[in-house]
Amino acid sequence: MGKTAAKKCIDILLLLLFFIELGGMFFPSLLHELLGFCLLALVLVHNAINNQFYKNFFRGTNNTHRTANKISIILFGVSLLILAVSGIALSPDLLANAHFAENLNWRSIHLGAAIAALILLFTHLLLHAGRYIHGRRFVIAAGAVFVLAAAGIFGMPYLDRWFHQVHVDREKIVQGEKVPFRGRVLTVYFSRVGNTDFPPNVDAVSGASVMKDKETIIGNAEMIAAMAHNAAGGEIYAIRTEKTYPAGYIDTTKEGKKEIAAGERPAIREPFPAAEEYDVIILVYPLWWNTMPMAVESFLERYDLSGKTILPIVTHGSGGAGDSLSALRRATNATVASDCLTIYSSDIPASRQAIADYLKKYAVK
Ligand SMILES: Cc1cc2nc3c(=O)[nH]c(=O)nc-3n(C[C@H](O)[C@H](O)[C@H](O)COP(=O)(O)O)c2cc1C
Repeated sequence: MGKTAAKKCIDILLLLLFFIELGGMFFPSLLHELLGFCLLALVLVHNAINNQFYKNFFRGTNNTHRTANKISIILFGVSLLILAVSGIALSPDLLANAHFAENLNWRSIHLGAAIAALILLFTHLLLHAGRYIHGRRFVIAAGAVFVLAAAGIFGMPYLDRWFHQVHVDREKIVQGEKVPFRGRVLTVYFSRVGNTDFPPNVDAVSGASVMKDKETIIGNAEMIAAMAHNAAGGEIYAIRTEKTYPAGYIDTTKEGKKEIAAGERPAIREPFPAAEEYDVIILVYPLWWNTMPMAVESFLERYDLSGKTILPIVTHGSGGAGDSLSALRRATNATVASDCLTIYSSDIPASRQAIADYLKKYAVK
């Protein structure tokens, strides 16, 4: 095989691998990591073969095309570097012991770098194509690149949210700064997990960003509550309903919608805690249709909590706290903290410090 043919083969392989890796959320994490290493190796080979680019970097004159090409290649290299570093920091399999800077939201960094790499790759290809195609054909190619880049920008966070199983080490990420409170603290949470009969094969569980520690699924609110409990101490209580929710995420959203429309108060299965005996209640719940899940109302309506403080922490899929704080204030006579903490579902693994910082505002000074 001649040098030019080998170069072409590597480029095609590189492109293929790059796009396969972009869909990494659809296949096992070990494969994603292995292919990631292959991609990195091929990038190095590609650079070695095309070293002329570096040799000529400071030579010759720079017209707009050449400057744009140089910038796009450098930025593409930077985004690949960030992908590699964040990939190592996130690695659930091959480099699981090499994690570092765990308070950084590596998942968002990895996703952001993938989107940037995609856009820069398209830009690089387009600039390259500019040498061979001109006029109307170039405009069409540029339009196609624009559409593909837009699909990447909007599509990838969507795919990440819906299809990415996040592997966490629960014991590890729950640990962090302690926040002593003056009074007694009770952490109460409601989560889809714990109120759903999931099938034995957790890989088959559909849903928005499922978190797993080995084979155990962890609810988003459940994880946040565990972090808050680790920070503030005291007791922890899970709101568990007598009814169970469907294993499918979409079906649960439909069930939640029906409950809210009917103003249902799902019956609670576990014995109620003596919530009146606590001074501070950290209440963690997911945003459901822009408000609190009805099971949280079932819990609150049971108590007279006057003189107590509720610190709400809301996990959501982009809606923040929605209108849930007004619903919370209607449902309880406790003092609800004016600022609540909202945590986007994908940010949970890296939210331990944000939770401590929020609690510190209400703890012993
Ligand atoms: C019934 C239902 C309704 C939801 N409604 C919203 C919503 O209105 N806005 C939003 O941002 N996320 C919404 N979500 C997403 C959840 O708030 C989000 O995935 C949360 O992190 C789930 O926490 P959990 O795993 O503890 O149940 C909804 C989820 C369900 C199941």
